[in-house]
Amino acid sequence: MPGNETWITVCSKDDLAPGTMRWVSVNGERVLLANVEGEFCAVSDRCGHQFASLSRGRLNGHEVECPLHFATFDVRTGKCTGGPDSKDIACYQVLVMGDDVRIKPRKPGGSGEAGLKF
Ligand code: FES
Repeated sequence: MPGNETWITVCSKDDLAPGTMRWVSVNGERVLLANVEGEFCAVSDRCGHQFASLSRGRLNGHEVECPLHFATFDVRTGKCTGGPDSKDIACYQVLVMGDDVRIKPRKPGGSGEAGLKF
């Protein structure tokens, strides 16, 4: 495992079929986890426009579309790729170890918008 940082196991890789997504909890933040053709990607579940839950939207390839005003974000980078004027969203590092999918929590003050607290 890279470094000595804490990684949070969020699901088994078989829990998320290619082309699907769901939100998971990472240290109290809602994080959108997507399986893009076998590559796991994680970004904030909070839209950079008016904070809708992106996991309620649609995943098209590597883009997630917000269900509210249809902004789109690249789940590999968190960059806004279309729709209403929106901030980019936070991106998380993902590690697959055996069957486990793990996410590295963001450091306080890290780049991008914070994930949705719940
Ligand atoms: S809240 Fe997501 S596009 Fe407006």
